[in-house]
Amino acid sequence: MANQQGSFLTAIDVGSAKTCALMAEVTDNGLRYRGHGVAESRGSRKGVIVELDKAVAAIQKAVEAAEDAAGAPVEHAIVGVGGAHVRGVNSHGGISLGTRPREIGRDEIKQAVERARAIPLPADREILHLLPQEFILDDQAGVHDPVGMMAARLEVRVHMVTAATSAAQNVITAVNKAGVHVDDTVYEPLAAADSVLRADERELGVCLADIGAGSTELIIFHQGAVAYTGVIPIGGDHFTSDLSVGMCTPLAAAEKIKKAYGSAIVTLIPEGNEVEVPSVGDRPSRLLPQRLVAEILEPRARELFEMMREALRHSGMFEACIAGVVLSGGASRLPGIFDVAESALRRAVRLSWPTPLAKMPATLAEPEYATVLGMVNYGQRARIARGLQEDRWGSRLKALLVGKGA
Ligand SMILES: Nc1ncnc2c1ncn2[C@@H]1O[C@H](COP(=O)(O)OP(=O)(O)OP(=O)(O)O)[C@@H](O)[C@H]1O
Ligand SMILES: [Mg+2]
Repeated sequence: MANQQGSFLTAIDVGSAKTCALMAEVTDNGLRYRGHGVAESRGSRKGVIVELDKAVAAIQKAVEAAEDAAGAPVEHAIVGVGGAHVRGVNSHGGISLGTRPREIGRDEIKQAVERARAIPLPADREILHLLPQEFILDDQAGVHDPVGMMAARLEVRVHMVTAATSAAQNVITAVNKAGVHVDDTVYEPLAAADSVLRADERELGVCLADIGAGSTELIIFHQGAVAYTGVIPIGGDHFTSDLSVGMCTPLAAAEKIKKAYGSAIVTLIPEGNEVEVPSVGDRPSRLLPQRLVAEILEPRARELFEMMREALRHSGMFEACIAGVVLSGGASRLPGIFDVAESALRRAVRLSWPTPLAKMPATLAEPEYATVLGMVNYGQRARIARGLQEDRWGSRLKALLVGKGA
């Protein structure tokens, strides 16, 4: 049967709100959409599986729908890892090549990267990605691919993404229990970046903020490489629970009201508009001003982007985001959120429209599918890189080649 090694690539995004499986076929002209399935996420919160059986059932449901649409079974998949347990850290290391300059090959690069990764990690953490930023040959910095060049000393700067071993392992376990073998894991915003950021933005400096249900994940690219990754513990769920409390309505009703009538800017809502708001218990529903919805959501949106500004300032990379900020994730669909982001961050902000796969239904071209769409692109590049490098490197260092994106 066709699988990850054959002509199909499947990605599974176990989000806090939705679990999505996407099947693509590898053709001579690139990836072609074959099918997808979406299930309401149950059993996972903020990137962590909290109820294994429920998470497994959601994965099975999404996978079965994708299989039905594609007319082929899913046996292997690439799986996303994200959430508040993920940490990014910059590191560097190097090797001496002798007293006189000599030619640099793949083995020397591998050794230099091994030095850069040799920083003490707590026992409960594992490395998800090792993303080279630049190589330094003697005193010459800013080298992207030193193979074949001459130097007496080779240094490398890398961005290391680490995850809590148990959290990453539990996502793999859930997918395995759903009957699917996990070929690879990818940090979700790195995958989302693959489908929404342009090469010129990555070169100039850009921050992608994926505003999901449980959290907002940040990734900064500068000079084509990952410079920073981080997470803000606020996502769409916080907006919904604010509405639920503020309007004294059940969470499910608050979620519907947010999507249908929500705004992050009060003045975008005409005065006098009213919304029917269900009550809790047996009380009758009420008609409340629509502006009240925005009055509750606006401070949460401001808090999110103010926290983001602080995190980015703290990273020391905010000034480098010359190409501005790109928003993805379902919660970026809240009307007015750009205005709040632009005023809090003082940067140009744009919404992301993921690059579509051939034959893909238009319903997938939405910001909440940026991650799963990016995952199949990432999987395809990893596969090509692995094919090219298997002989000499093995697959462990594939991230070296797949971290930078097109
Ligand atoms: N039109 C809309 N307006 C406001 N919020 C929306 C809209 N559509 C979706 N959302 C919110 O987007 C969130 C879901 O986004 P997404 O599907 O990207 O999350 P996820 O990937 O499941 O979660 P995470 O990435 O945090 O694990 C929910 O909180 C939902 O309420
Ligand atoms: Mg997500």
